[in-house]
Amino acid sequence: MSTDPERDASGPAPDGRLLTLSVGAPAAGGTFVARHEGRVVFVRGTAPGETVIARLLDDPAEKPDARFWRAEAVEVLEPGVDRVPTVWEEASAEGIGGAEWSHIALPAQRRIATEVMQELLRRAGVSSYPIEEVQVEPATHDMDGLGWRTRMRFAVDEEGHVGMRGWRSHDVHPLGANPLAARAIRDLDLGSWTAPEGVEAIDAVAPSVGPASVVLVGRDLDPATIRVPEEWGDVDVSVRTSRGLVPLRGDGMVRERVGDRLFAVSATGFWQSHRRAAELLSEAVSTALRAPRGGSAWDLYGGVGLFAAVAAEQVGRDGTVVSVEGNRRASQLAAENLQDLPQVSTGTADVTDWVRARRGGVDVVVLDPPRNGAGLELMDLLAAAVRQRIVYVSCEPSTLARDLAAIEKKGWGLTELRAFDLFPHTHHIESVAVLERV
Ligand SMILES: C[S@@+](CC[C@H](N)C(=O)[O-])C[C@H]1O[C@@H](n2cnc3c(N)ncnc32)[C@H](O)[C@@H]1O
Repeated sequence: MSTDPERDASGPAPDGRLLTLSVGAPAAGGTFVARHEGRVVFVRGTAPGETVIARLLDDPAEKPDARFWRAEAVEVLEPGVDRVPTVWEEASAEGIGGAEWSHIALPAQRRIATEVMQELLRRAGVSSYPIEEVQVEPATHDMDGLGWRTRMRFAVDEEGHVGMRGWRSHDVHPLGANPLAARAIRDLDLGSWTAPEGVEAIDAVAPSVGPASVVLVGRDLDPATIRVPEEWGDVDVSVRTSRGLVPLRGDGMVRERVGDRLFAVSATGFWQSHRRAAELLSEAVSTALRAPRGGSAWDLYGGVGLFAAVAAEQVGRDGTVVSVEGNRRASQLAAENLQDLPQVSTGTADVTDWVRARRGGVDVVVLDPPRNGAGLELMDLLAAAVRQRIVYVSCEPSTLARDLAAIEKKGWGLTELRAFDLFPHTHHIESVAVLERV
């Protein structure tokens, strides 16, 4: 492999174009900024202060006027102070996705995530909060960032071997130690399985209660023909085809405990992925929401009712909580999970449509949208409808920052912002923002 940038920059190498780069500040998406002949290059698989050889992911001939290029580090010439031996060899350069910071020391990951978060808030123009105070906190008792992931999708190749997709490729790579997975998923030893014919992917879940669960995913699978091998052990098994979910062993559900409450979740449904996340976020929402006794609350993007339970406890039986969720099955489960709380009602709807159709306001709102965030229309609607407080739970700081800046223009201010490392060894950040009228 050449280390001569002049040669590499001048003609295409058979395996892509190689550049020698000095790496600087973190950027969004888990990459770091370098420069080549004045052009910004966003580099994956490196760390601040490193000198690396990186393979361009964009073809300069196709994008001669591009403002930036993207690249992946393939060799480290001078390591940075934050580099450590990777916790997951198979996730290194050209390996599987989902652990892009596994070569960076955990405290440094959190420092870098803090820098990214602060920069996104500044760039979005968030002005009502001292941004330098935002710090990414570890999850409680998470010392090494390993064994946290309770939901994982695995890929299956044509011979039925189970692995994971390469980053930016369809190749199925071996799992190796799979160290981010929760113990119950690692114990399945999926790398030794041969999946039945027609299985395209396997979703594995390690719930807090009961055995692990796997869902065999394949458009044309016939559940009646699938035999669960003895060697798969004590695991619930379901099949998901284009016609829906069919349990083969167990009931196609998992159970999650948070405090004294048990939540039923579909084996393919949404639940917070880090094994400590549901409890940690419930506590953070509980502290932040402060719904008035006898008052009203909306739980938007409510899933199976995690935060509606928190709001219900605060408003008490004389109050009201409405949990709104777009997925019909999740919404039904929220109703079942919270049936002992008469103050809670549930609705299946698009959140923005639902809020737009409301007459009258509400005391407090908790919202927990997917990565694309709430969006400007919903923030406008909430700015007008909410009387006291909005607690915004976010898994994507860039859309959070956009939405916070938007509601600031409507007379609201940020009074607290906590950020959590609930996806260690990746660049993702979870956060809980508290908004009040100023
Ligand atoms: C990040 S999850 C949060 C779920 C829940 N708050 C929890 O913590 O378990 C986002 C939820 O929003 C739902 N969702 C996504 N887009 C939606 C929309 N436009 N309207 C209503 N619900 C939506 C998804 O089905 C998912 O359950």
